[in-house]
Amino acid sequence: MSDKPRVLSLAQPTADSLHIGNYLGALRQWPGLQDQYEAFYGVADLHALTVEVEPAVLRKRSLASAAQLIAAGVDPERSAVFLQSHVPEHTQLMWVLTCLTGFGHASRMTQFKDKTSKHGVDAANVGLFNYPILMAADILLYNADRVPVGEDQRQHLELTRDLAHRFNTRYSPTFTLPEPHIVKSVGKIKDLQDPTVKMSKSSSSPNGVVDLLDDPKLNAKKFRSAVTDSGRDITFDEVNKPGVANLLTLLAAFTGRPVETLVEEFGGKGYGDLKGAVADAAGAEITPFRERTLELLGEKTELEAILAAGAEKARAVASRTVAKVYRKVGLVPRG
Ligand code: TYM
Repeated sequence: MSDKPRVLSLAQPTADSLHIGNYLGALRQWPGLQDQYEAFYGVADLHALTVEVEPAVLRKRSLASAAQLIAAGVDPERSAVFLQSHVPEHTQLMWVLTCLTGFGHASRMTQFKDKTSKHGVDAANVGLFNYPILMAADILLYNADRVPVGEDQRQHLELTRDLAHRFNTRYSPTFTLPEPHIVKSVGKIKDLQDPTVKMSKSSSSPNGVVDLLDDPKLNAKKFRSAVTDSGRDITFDEVNKPGVANLLTLLAAFTGRPVETLVEEFGGKGYGDLKGAVADAAGAEITPFRERTLELLGEKTELEAILAAGAEKARAVASRTVAKVYRKVGLVPRG
């Protein structure tokens, strides 16, 4: 076992492909943290059960998500790459944390609140209510120091820190309080058709979301038909020109060039030029990523072996945490 600090993050397999929000906000940060940290990267397949899904579809999406983590540069030799359901300790720790979470606190989590306020309590299941507690277990099981995620996960990280603190004070110091690792510039990529909301798998318009595994031509079309704002100037103004600001954010992320330089360069040019530049830059990065993912999916046996080895690595850490936690809360160890 290494004495490096730990990094952990998971992505849900709730669609056939991850989108560029997942990629820029989270996934793309993961490979760069593998050297400095002992890394645990996974697919939150148990979380995905909070929405009804065909079993065969969930299986396919879980493998596709794992392949995308690897295609993004997560190296199974250096990191544990695993499916959450392969490590039963996640749900074991979750139960203990569930018993430490106030009902009121869990009810204030925005994801549950949003869904039930829009569609009523019957539209949500108890799994969705418990969702942030399972996420806290994912993180605390490994005593992760850093958690690279998008802005929308900040509240869940706060709950995780609260639960860690509560456990540590009620029993004895056990859990590390994790720090979110959110890259401000790309922490909230917006929907291309409605740039006032984040890009999300549950978007109302498929044209607003760019899926990494979609046909590159279709994606180029989506960038070219992104909603922009009235006026003609290309300036970075998130309040008054959210569409243009989102495109500039995307172009800066995909080219690695600062927004200010891009604004200067596009002075006098039109929105169409900007959209075309985003389509080209994104395509140049996503097309090889997509090919690598498809290749990995074509080698299913190898992919499954990677996940089995990743689960082993993860369980070596997770089982110790659960044994320690069960002992501390007063459960009798099996003799
Ligand atoms: P999920 O599957 O919705 O998203 C995966 C990651 O992508 C980020 N993200 C975005 N970043 C920028 N702009 C966007 N528009 C955007 N949309 C999504 C998310 O913040 C996330 O980092 N609950 C988590 C999965 C999870 C997890 C964990 C994460 C389960 N256990 C433990 C970290 C640690 C989720 O639903 O992410």
